[in-house]
Parts: sequence; C-alpha cells; structure tokens
Amino acid sequence: MNSTAVPTALVTGASRGIGAATARRLASRGYRVAVNYFSSPEAAALVVAEIEAAGGTAFAIRGDVRDPAEAAELVRLAAADGRLDVLVCNAAAPSFTPTPVGTLPWEDFHAKLTAELAGVYTLTQHALAVMGGQRGGRIVYVSSNVADGPPAPGMAAHGTAKAAINTFARFVAAEAGPLGVRVNVVAPGLVRTEASARLPKEFSQRIADRTPLGRIAEPDDVARAIALLVSEDAAFVTGAVLSVDGGFGISRI
Ligand SMILES: NC(=O)c1ccc[n+]([C@@H]2O[C@H](COP(=O)([O-])OP(=O)(O)OC[C@H]3O[C@@H](n4cnc5c(N)ncnc54)[C@H](OP(=O)(O)O)[C@@H]3O)[C@@H](O)[C@H]2O)c1
Repeated sequence: MNSTAVPTALVTGASRGIGAATARRLASRGYRVAVNYFSSPEAAALVVAEIEAAGGTAFAIRGDVRDPAEAAELVRLAAADGRLDVLVCNAAAPSFTPTPVGTLPWEDFHAKLTAELAGVYTLTQHALAVMGGQRGGRIVYVSSNVADGPPAPGMAAHGTAKAAINTFARFVAAEAGPLGVRVNVVAPGLVRTEASARLPKEFSQRIADRTPLGRIAEPDDVARAIALLVSEDAAFVTGAVLSVDGGFGISRI
C-alpha cells in the first residue's frame, strides 16, 4: 500500500440521513469518500458538493446494495485506484410497517431479513478481497439498538435482521483480523432522519424523555461514533457493537 495515498471510504446509503452525515464526517477526517445512493441522485450530488465546498474529496456512485452484481461494482468503482480503507454498510432496507409476529406473513419476514443481510454480504466479500490484498481496512455495519434492546412492539423482523448483522460482524471480524481488517457495528437508537420523521412526534418525545442524555440522536452523533471506530483510536477494537443511543438501552426511567 502506498502510505502517502489519500485513504478511501465507501459509505452506502450516503445520499441522506446517517450515511450522508458519515460521508461528510469521514471527508472532514481526510478520506476520499464514495457516496453511494440508490434513488436520489440529486441528494447524493448535494452531499458531494457540500464535501467539496468544505475542501474534501467525494464522488457519487449509484448502486443497489442488495444486488450482488451492483454491490461488486460499487466496491470496484470506489476502489478505482486499487485501494479501499473503509467500508460503512449503512443503506436502509425498504421501509416497513411494524407488525406483530402473529399477523406478519412469512414472506414479509423473509423479505426483511434478506434485504438487510443482502445489503452487507456481497459488499463485505468484495471489500475483504481488496482490504486483504492491501493488508488492512475497517468495516462498520449500521445496525440498531432494536436488535438487543427491549423488544419493541411490531419490530420482530427489523430487530431479528439487525441482530443477524451483529452476529455476522463477529464472524467477519474473526475471519478478517489476521488480514489486518477490523470489523465493528454501531447500534443507534432513534435518530432524527427522514426515515424516523414518519413516526408520530409523541413517540420521538417519549424516547427522548426516557434517554439519560435527554434527546434522540442526530445523524452526526452516529457518524462520529463510526469515525471513532475506523480511527487509530480504536486500533485494538474489533467484533464490537457500540450503542449510540444516549443511554436509552440502560435506562429504567
Ligand atoms: N433513523 C433511525 O432512527 C435509525 C435507528 C437505528 C438504525 N438506523 C439504521 O441506520 C441506517 C440509515 O438509516 P437512515 O435513517 O439514515 O435512513 P434514510 O434517511 O431513510 O436514508 C436511507 C439511505 O439508504 C439509501 N438506500 C436505500 N435503499 C438502498 C439500496 N437498496 N441500495 C443503496 N442505498 C439504498 C437511500 O438512498 P436513496 O435516497 O438514494 O434511495 C438513503 O441514502 C439504516 O441501516 C437504518 O436501519 C436508523
């Protein structure tokens, strides 16, 4: 690896929300950022423009992370100079309606699991091929505190899918450690994004009231945790799940 080259990060689902904040944050830390988007080219272009205006380097790449061929192409384009230092798997699976297990058809449960896992699996394989070759890299998966917090009503499919990502990360961390690749997870609580804006205001307020730090997260709260995990300050951290929920998960209020 050329140690003077600019490090490269691929952030999936970076046109909005947590992914956009992560792209901006990593660019501010000196990464050349590949801003992946799916259906919002204008939003992705805006993120790139903001990064460039702040003196950073970024470029947008369209791709559906659930499609193995597109995921492979994403890694190839992000690592155009043969180098990929950071992969952040953040892209959201399609939105879903919270539904109790009793009335959730198997097909819907299966689709949710498949969409979440497909969004990390092939990307991980292709990123590891590059990172293994350069003997170093960092991968972060964006999970949720729904995976191992108190079971939220109607969230079995989402929580089970995110729990599978937490477990997958441990296996990848064990396999990739000898290659010099660290693999970790951030598990946010409720974050103020377009996805969570669909929830009733009273619900967000209830979560804020029960959170020791007194509010729900902003996207940059999660982005900064990701930046920490990919930094040298976390050089001996791998296979970890970092809660980013202001203490909601430990709250008994
Ligand atoms: N918001 C929360 O409260 C919260 C809490 C815990 C965990 N999370 C997790 O955090 C992550 C980001 O959530 P968010 O709230 O920031 O979501 P968001 O604001 O809805 O943004 C979703 C992003 O994912 C992209 N995307 C969707 N489907 C894609 C696909 N098939 N391929 C590539 N990109 C795709 C979207 O791109 P386009 O706009 O271009 O389609 C967009 O950039 C998700 O994994 C979510 O489960 C969120």
